[in-house]
Amino acid sequence: MRSCNFKIKTLFLISFLTTLNLKSQTIPAQRTCGTAILPQQYETWVQSLSAQNSIKGQGQNSIQSIFYIPVIVHVIHNAENVNSVNASTGNNLNAAQIQDQINILNKDFNGTNADTNLIPAVFKPFLGKFQMYFCLAVVNPTGGVIAEPGIDRINRVTKGWTASPYSINYIDGIIKPNSIWNPNLYLNMWVCGMSGGILGYATFPNPGASGLAGLTGSFGSATTDGVVILNTAFGSIGTAASNAPYNKGRTATHEVGHWIGLRHIWGDGNCATDYCNDTPIAQTSNFNCPTFPYHVGTCPGNTTGEMTMNYMDYTNDACMYMFSKDQKNRAQLIMTNSPMRASLITSTVCNLPNIGNDVGITFVSSPTYSQTLNCIFNINPIINITNFGSTPLNSALFTFNANGVNTQTLNWVGNLLPNNSTTVALSQISGLMMGLNNFSVNVSLPNGSTDNNLTNNNNLQQFYVSGGSFTLTPSSPTICSGYSVNINASGTLVNFTWSNGATGANVNLSPSVTTIYS
Ligand code: ARG
Ligand code: ZN
Ligand code: CA
Repeated sequence: MRSCNFKIKTLFLISFLTTLNLKSQTIPAQRTCGTAILPQQYETWVQSLSAQNSIKGQGQNSIQSIFYIPVIVHVIHNAENVNSVNASTGNNLNAAQIQDQINILNKDFNGTNADTNLIPAVFKPFLGKFQMYFCLAVVNPTGGVIAEPGIDRINRVTKGWTASPYSINYIDGIIKPNSIWNPNLYLNMWVCGMSGGILGYATFPNPGASGLAGLTGSFGSATTDGVVILNTAFGSIGTAASNAPYNKGRTATHEVGHWIGLRHIWGDGNCATDYCNDTPIAQTSNFNCPTFPYHVGTCPGNTTGEMTMNYMDYTNDACMYMFSKDQKNRAQLIMTNSPMRASLITSTVCNLPNIGNDVGITFVSSPTYSQTLNCIFNINPIINITNFGSTPLNSALFTFNANGVNTQTLNWVGNLLPNNSTTVALSQISGLMMGLNNFSVNVSLPNGSTDNNLTNNNNLQQFYVSGGSFTLTPSSPTICSGYSVNINASGTLVNFTWSNGATGANVNLSPSVTTIYS
């Protein structure tokens, strides 16, 4: 049996192998951790997960998995030829510029952008890596293969639309409804000339059952959902190259941030909240490139300065280079709870049709992200898989471990039709570590054959093991010889066995001589 760490909570806390003198009597107590009753506790915990998921707040119990988000970019042009690769003008952006923006999104959302080295030391621990990847769709809404992946070129003349620049009203009223692709399957991006000095705008997601505060309608609808980006601020090359200070592709990072549920860093008010605990409270929007530390204490409770380098501020592209962990948690919750976002997880539009065998891990449902297990040193992982292939899936091989050691395998057999998903319970992993643990899983050999798309075959989840905590509170801090004291335990541990044979959180002790209880 393992012993546990525990937190000291009150003066009457009695810790492992220490004693508390209660006047003439010594009534120390020691606890063992809940490991002995583990299997039952664990089952109860697994059963409670869905309940927890409906009451969770930011940072707790959210599902963290790797998500792939299929993108279609509607390029609105004025009967123009496609821009040559290095053209600095023109509305019909070259595919290289589109790919460049997608690359920037994938770096920014996963903390692999080169400028993370600029993050101030106080904010480094809060860097959020979303584990979300944007892929260019290869299949159009009627199932055909798209000539240029992720690109829908629209000649505004043949559509009968006016010439750009466009107002938000015109885009929402005319352009979007007449060009949107099913937002349950695609993240729609429109790239065009815009009036009003706007760099871009986005629709918010419906929070669904996530419990996330700060998201108010109108949410994106079947005819409006998506992001709109000024075509000289899309990506960092071509027509965006010379558009400093908005020439590093961060307008799309910012707008996709809204689209996945993030608020402005200043909470759109004076020292207002963005519903994230790790983004310091900020007075208002910031522009240009503030020098850190900026505005320390301007808002009550701000001790570090404002996080002006967060993508959800209004600073220059070169001066924004991070999301935070709480922002990541909001995004992860949206991906699994928001109606028009969760459906993207199983969208197959980034996969070629008739691909043959393609099994993918959709997400890890247990352990949940940031889950803290009290004195529990094993997990029974549960994952969700999708048959992204074009033939029924009857078998697959899972390879999984925690922390890279003692890798196990499981041969799954079943019958999963194309585009269907199911859960798979993997075998127990024991020997977890105190603190941070990493669960990772790989799937291979769909139907005993080669998997024709390896991008969705790996997934992982981070979670923690901590010592449980408990507090022992005697009915009185002193007792006289021959009298008794009642000791009540409370905390995250639930099973108590005392050295005098008593069980339960509450014990009555009446020693006649100095006695050590454990
Ligand atoms: N919606 C904001 C605007 O139009 C986007 C700001 C993006 N900021 C940036 N540095 N790219 O102003
Ligand atoms: Zn914004
Ligand atoms: Ca695959």
